[in-house]
Amino acid sequence: MDITVKATAKLNLALDILGKRDDGYHELETVMAMVDLADYLDFSLRLDGNIKLESSSNAVPEDGRNLIVKAGLLLQRRFQVTKGATIKLDKKIPISAGMAGGSSDAAATLHGLNQLWELNLSLDELAEIGAEIGSDVSFCVYGGVAMCNGRGEKITPLPSLPPCWVVLAKPAISVSTRDVFSHLEVNDIQHQHSEKMLAAISSGDYYQMVEALGNDLEDYSLEKYAEISYLKKQFEAFGADAVLMSGTGPTVFAIVKTEKKAKRLYNSVSGFCKNVHMVRFLKPQFE
Ligand code: C5P
Repeated sequence: MDITVKATAKLNLALDILGKRDDGYHELETVMAMVDLADYLDFSLRLDGNIKLESSSNAVPEDGRNLIVKAGLLLQRRFQVTKGATIKLDKKIPISAGMAGGSSDAAATLHGLNQLWELNLSLDELAEIGAEIGSDVSFCVYGGVAMCNGRGEKITPLPSLPPCWVVLAKPAISVSTRDVFSHLEVNDIQHQHSEKMLAAISSGDYYQMVEALGNDLEDYSLEKYAEISYLKKQFEAFGADAVLMSGTGPTVFAIVKTEKKAKRLYNSVSGFCKNVHMVRFLKPQFE
Protein backbone atom coordinates (compact mmCIF):
# COMPACT_ATOMS: atom_id res chain seq x y z
CA MET A 1 0.00 0.00 0.00
CA ASP A 2 1.34 3.44 -0.95
CA ILE A 3 1.76 6.18 1.65
CA THR A 4 1.59 9.87 0.68
CA VAL A 5 3.13 12.58 2.85
CA LYS A 6 2.90 16.35 2.39
CA ALA A 7 6.15 18.32 2.85
CA THR A 8 5.39 21.98 3.51
CA ALA A 9 7.63 25.03 3.04
CA LYS A 10 8.76 27.21 5.93
CA LEU A 11 9.39 30.91 6.32
CA ASN A 12 11.61 32.54 8.95
CA LEU A 13 9.66 35.34 10.63
CA ALA A 14 12.59 36.27 12.83
CA LEU A 15 16.20 35.14 12.63
CA ASP A 16 18.95 36.16 15.05
CA ILE A 17 22.55 35.03 14.80
CA LEU A 18 23.88 34.71 18.33
CA GLY A 19 27.47 33.74 17.49
CA LYS A 20 29.83 31.44 15.65
CA ARG A 21 30.52 28.01 17.17
CA ASP A 22 33.69 25.96 17.26
CA ASP A 23 32.13 23.36 14.92
CA GLY A 24 31.77 26.02 12.17
CA TYR A 25 27.98 26.38 12.54
CA HIS A 26 26.24 29.49 13.84
CA GLU A 27 24.23 29.62 17.02
CA LEU A 28 20.74 30.78 16.04
CA GLU A 29 17.48 31.90 17.51
CA THR A 30 14.78 31.84 14.87
CA VAL A 31 10.99 31.73 14.66
CA MET A 32 9.86 29.52 11.80
CA ALA A 33 6.37 28.89 10.47
CA MET A 34 4.99 26.51 7.85
CA VAL A 35 2.95 27.81 4.92
CA ASP A 36 0.53 25.95 2.65
CA LEU A 37 2.95 25.48 -0.24
CA ALA A 38 4.06 21.86 -0.40
CA ASP A 39 5.84 19.02 -2.15
CA TYR A 40 4.16 15.59 -2.11
CA LEU A 41 6.05 12.36 -1.54
CA ASP A 42 4.66 8.95 -2.34
CA PHE A 43 6.25 5.88 -0.72
CA SER A 44 5.90 2.27 -1.87
CA LEU A 45 7.62 -0.79 -0.48
CA ARG A 46 10.54 -2.53 -2.23
CA LEU A 47 11.78 -5.88 -1.04
CA ASP A 48 15.22 -5.56 -2.69
CA GLY A 49 16.43 -3.11 -0.03
CA ASN A 50 17.08 -0.27 -2.52
CA ILE A 51 15.94 3.31 -2.06
CA LYS A 52 14.91 4.66 -5.44
CA LEU A 53 13.93 8.31 -5.83
CA GLU A 54 11.93 9.55 -8.84
CA SER A 55 11.52 13.32 -8.95
CA SER A 56 9.10 15.40 -11.03
CA SER A 57 11.81 18.07 -11.26
CA ASN A 58 15.11 17.50 -13.03
CA ALA A 59 16.66 20.31 -10.95
CA VAL A 60 17.09 18.03 -7.92
CA PRO A 61 19.50 15.06 -7.78
CA GLU A 62 17.97 11.58 -7.40
CA ASP A 63 21.06 10.02 -5.82
CA GLY A 64 22.68 10.17 -2.37
CA ARG A 65 23.10 13.96 -2.59
CA ASN A 66 19.34 14.34 -2.11
CA LEU A 67 18.27 14.66 1.55
CA ILE A 68 15.41 12.22 0.84
CA VAL A 69 17.87 9.45 0.00
CA LYS A 70 20.11 10.47 2.93
CA ALA A 71 17.14 10.18 5.31
CA GLY A 72 16.23 6.73 3.96
CA LEU A 73 19.79 5.40 4.19
CA LEU A 74 20.17 6.78 7.72
CA LEU A 75 16.99 5.00 8.89
CA GLN A 76 18.08 1.75 7.22
CA ARG A 77 21.50 1.87 8.90
CA ARG A 78 20.22 2.94 12.32
CA PHE A 79 17.46 0.32 12.57
CA GLN A 80 18.96 -2.49 10.42
CA VAL A 81 16.09 -2.21 7.95
CA THR A 82 16.43 -4.68 5.07
CA LYS A 83 13.38 -3.39 3.15
CA GLY A 84 13.66 -0.57 0.61
CA ALA A 85 11.33 1.99 -0.94
CA THR A 86 10.44 3.70 -4.18
CA ILE A 87 9.86 7.37 -3.41
CA LYS A 88 8.09 9.61 -5.94
CA LEU A 89 8.63 13.32 -5.33
CA ASP A 90 6.21 15.89 -6.74
CA LYS A 91 8.28 19.08 -6.37
CA LYS A 92 6.37 22.36 -5.90
CA ILE A 93 8.51 24.27 -3.36
CA PRO A 94 11.08 26.44 -5.16
CA ILE A 95 14.58 24.96 -4.96
CA SER A 96 17.49 26.66 -3.09
CA ALA A 97 15.04 29.29 -1.99
CA GLY A 98 15.40 29.66 1.80
CA MET A 99 12.14 27.77 2.39
CA ALA A 100 13.62 24.46 3.58
CA GLY A 101 12.21 22.49 0.62
CA GLY A 102 14.97 19.86 0.84
CA SER A 103 14.77 19.67 4.64
CA SER A 104 10.99 19.31 4.53
CA ASP A 105 11.31 16.51 1.97
CA ALA A 106 13.75 14.78 4.36
CA ALA A 107 11.32 15.19 7.28
CA ALA A 108 8.46 13.81 5.15
CA THR A 109 10.70 10.85 4.28
CA LEU A 110 11.29 10.12 7.97
CA HIS A 111 7.50 10.20 8.53
CA GLY A 112 6.74 8.13 5.42
CA LEU A 113 9.36 5.43 5.98
CA ASN A 114 8.52 5.27 9.70
CA GLN A 115 5.04 4.13 8.58
CA LEU A 116 6.08 2.05 5.56
CA TRP A 117 8.72 0.09 7.49
CA GLU A 118 6.63 -0.01 10.72
CA LEU A 119 9.42 1.43 12.86
CA ASN A 120 7.05 3.00 15.42
CA LEU A 121 9.38 5.92 16.11
CA SER A 122 7.97 8.87 18.07
CA LEU A 123 7.91 12.44 16.75
CA ASP A 124 10.77 13.36 19.10
CA GLU A 125 12.86 10.43 17.86
CA LEU A 126 12.22 11.40 14.23
CA ALA A 127 13.22 15.01 15.01
CA GLU A 128 16.44 13.85 16.66
CA ILE A 129 17.34 11.75 13.62
CA GLY A 130 16.38 14.71 11.40
CA ALA A 131 18.99 16.92 13.11
CA GLU A 132 21.70 14.61 11.74
CA ILE A 133 20.50 15.26 8.19
CA GLY A 134 20.30 19.08 8.33
CA SER A 135 19.73 21.99 10.71
CA ASP A 136 16.11 22.66 9.59
CA VAL A 137 14.93 19.04 9.41
CA SER A 138 13.85 18.78 13.08
CA PHE A 139 11.50 21.76 12.74
CA CYS A 140 10.09 20.24 9.55
CA VAL A 141 9.36 16.99 11.41
CA TYR A 142 7.10 18.90 13.87
CA GLY A 143 5.76 21.61 11.50
CA GLY A 144 3.50 24.43 12.68
CA VAL A 145 5.15 27.42 14.30
CA ALA A 146 8.21 27.20 16.57
CA MET A 147 11.12 28.96 18.18
CA CYS A 148 14.29 27.16 17.05
CA ASN A 149 17.65 27.38 18.82
CA GLY A 150 21.10 25.83 18.58
CA ARG A 151 21.91 25.17 14.89
CA GLY A 152 18.14 25.42 14.47
CA GLU A 153 17.42 21.89 15.75
CA LYS A 154 16.19 22.67 19.29
CA ILE A 155 12.47 23.22 18.92
CA THR A 156 9.96 25.00 21.17
CA PRO A 157 6.44 24.86 19.69
CA LEU A 158 4.50 28.14 19.51
CA PRO A 159 0.79 28.91 19.07
CA SER A 160 -0.90 30.01 15.82
CA LEU A 161 -0.02 33.32 14.22
CA PRO A 162 -2.57 36.14 13.97
CA PRO A 163 -4.70 35.65 10.81
CA CYS A 164 -3.04 37.15 7.72
CA TRP A 165 -2.03 36.48 4.11
CA VAL A 166 1.43 35.94 2.70
CA VAL A 167 2.72 36.57 -0.81
CA LEU A 168 6.13 35.09 -1.43
CA ALA A 169 8.38 35.40 -4.44
CA LYS A 170 11.65 33.80 -5.42
CA PRO A 171 13.88 35.79 -7.75
CA ALA A 172 15.58 33.74 -10.47
CA ILE A 173 18.87 33.40 -8.61
CA SER A 174 20.30 30.70 -6.36
CA VAL A 175 21.92 31.47 -3.05
CA SER A 176 24.28 29.15 -1.18
CA THR A 177 23.47 28.77 2.53
CA ARG A 178 27.14 28.23 3.28
CA ASP A 179 28.13 31.39 1.38
CA VAL A 180 25.65 33.62 3.23
CA PHE A 181 26.70 32.29 6.65
CA SER A 182 30.40 32.60 5.82
CA HIS A 183 30.06 36.34 5.10
CA LEU A 184 28.45 37.22 8.43
CA GLU A 185 30.21 39.72 10.65
CA VAL A 186 28.92 38.11 13.82
CA ASN A 187 30.27 40.74 16.21
CA ASP A 188 28.37 43.56 14.48
CA ILE A 189 24.98 41.98 15.13
CA GLN A 190 22.88 42.88 18.14
CA HIS A 191 19.33 42.29 16.99
CA GLN A 192 16.61 40.60 19.02
CA HIS A 193 13.98 39.90 16.41
CA SER A 194 13.01 36.50 17.84
CA GLU A 195 12.26 37.81 21.33
CA LYS A 196 10.04 40.52 19.89
CA MET A 197 8.34 37.98 17.62
CA LEU A 198 7.72 35.68 20.57
CA ALA A 199 6.01 38.53 22.46
CA ALA A 200 3.93 39.40 19.38
CA ILE A 201 2.80 35.80 18.86
CA SER A 202 1.93 35.43 22.55
CA SER A 203 -0.22 38.57 22.43
CA GLY A 204 -1.79 37.53 19.10
CA ASP A 205 -1.40 41.09 17.80
CA TYR A 206 -1.05 41.33 13.99
CA TYR A 207 0.59 44.77 14.00
CA GLN A 208 3.07 43.77 16.70
CA MET A 209 3.93 40.71 14.59
CA VAL A 210 4.65 42.67 11.41
CA GLU A 211 6.75 45.16 13.43
CA ALA A 212 8.82 42.30 14.84
CA LEU A 213 9.81 40.74 11.49
CA GLY A 214 13.60 40.72 11.07
CA ASN A 215 16.44 38.61 9.68
CA ASP A 216 20.14 39.10 10.51
CA LEU A 217 21.10 37.43 7.22
CA GLU A 218 19.22 39.97 5.12
CA ASP A 219 21.68 42.90 4.99
CA TYR A 220 24.40 40.88 3.26
CA SER A 221 21.99 39.46 0.67
CA LEU A 222 20.31 42.80 -0.02
CA GLU A 223 23.71 44.30 -0.75
CA LYS A 224 25.01 41.37 -2.79
CA TYR A 225 21.91 40.56 -4.87
CA ALA A 226 20.13 43.43 -6.64
CA GLU A 227 17.25 41.02 -7.42
CA ILE A 228 16.45 40.60 -3.72
CA SER A 229 16.50 44.30 -2.87
CA TYR A 230 14.43 45.12 -5.97
CA LEU A 231 11.80 42.57 -4.98
CA LYS A 232 11.69 43.89 -1.42
CA LYS A 233 11.24 47.48 -2.62
CA GLN A 234 8.48 46.48 -5.06
CA PHE A 235 6.54 44.62 -2.35
CA GLU A 236 6.81 47.72 -0.13
CA ALA A 237 5.72 50.02 -2.96
CA PHE A 238 2.68 47.81 -3.68
CA GLY A 239 1.46 48.21 -0.08
CA ALA A 240 2.76 45.26 1.98
CA ASP A 241 2.53 45.73 5.75
CA ALA A 242 5.96 44.11 6.14
CA VAL A 243 8.49 42.42 3.83
CA LEU A 244 11.34 40.09 4.76
CA MET A 245 13.82 37.70 3.17
CA SER A 246 13.33 34.14 4.46
CA GLY A 247 16.33 32.26 5.90
CA THR A 248 19.38 32.63 3.69
CA GLY A 249 17.13 33.77 0.81
CA PRO A 250 16.60 34.55 -1.96
CA THR A 251 12.84 34.19 -1.30
CA VAL A 252 11.20 37.39 -0.09
CA PHE A 253 7.77 37.38 1.51
CA ALA A 254 5.22 40.10 2.21
CA ILE A 255 2.50 40.05 4.85
CA VAL A 256 -0.92 41.71 4.56
CA LYS A 257 -4.11 41.43 6.54
CA THR A 258 -6.68 40.91 3.80
CA GLU A 259 -7.09 38.55 0.86
CA LYS A 260 -7.88 41.50 -1.38
CA LYS A 261 -4.52 43.15 -0.65
CA ALA A 262 -2.73 39.83 -1.07
CA LYS A 263 -4.28 39.38 -4.53
CA ARG A 264 -3.16 42.89 -5.50
CA LEU A 265 0.39 42.15 -4.37
CA TYR A 266 0.36 38.77 -6.12
CA ASN A 267 -0.78 40.29 -9.42
CA SER A 268 1.67 43.18 -9.23
CA VAL A 269 4.74 41.08 -8.44
CA SER A 270 3.74 38.39 -10.98
CA GLY A 271 4.25 41.09 -13.61
CA PHE A 272 8.03 40.81 -13.29
CA CYS A 273 8.73 37.64 -11.25
CA LYS A 274 7.82 34.12 -12.44
CA ASN A 275 7.89 32.32 -9.10
CA VAL A 276 5.17 33.95 -6.96
CA HIS A 277 2.78 32.25 -4.51
CA MET A 278 -0.10 33.49 -2.39
CA VAL A 279 -0.23 31.39 0.78
CA ARG A 280 -1.35 31.26 4.41
CA PHE A 281 0.45 30.16 7.54
CA LEU A 282 -0.54 26.68 8.72
CA LYS A 283 -1.98 26.09 12.16
CA PRO A 284 0.22 24.07 14.54
CA GLN A 285 -0.99 20.44 14.65
CA PHE A 286 -0.68 20.18 18.41
CA GLU A 287 -2.49 23.32 19.54
O1 C5P B 1 22.74 22.06 8.50
P1 C5P B 1 22.77 22.33 7.04
O2 C5P B 1 23.48 21.27 6.27
O3 C5P B 1 21.43 22.64 6.47
O4 C5P B 1 23.64 23.68 6.87
C1 C5P B 1 24.24 24.05 5.65
C2 C5P B 1 25.40 25.03 5.90
O5 C5P B 1 24.88 26.25 6.45
C3 C5P B 1 26.39 24.56 6.96
O6 C5P B 1 27.41 23.78 6.39
C4 C5P B 1 26.92 25.87 7.52
O7 C5P B 1 27.92 26.40 6.66
C5 C5P B 1 25.73 26.79 7.44
N1 C5P B 1 24.99 26.89 8.73
C6 C5P B 1 25.53 27.59 9.78
N2 C5P B 1 24.84 27.67 10.97
C7 C5P B 1 23.63 27.08 11.11
C8 C5P B 1 23.05 26.36 10.04
C9 C5P B 1 23.75 26.28 8.86
O8 C5P B 1 26.63 28.15 9.68
N3 C5P B 1 22.99 27.19 12.28
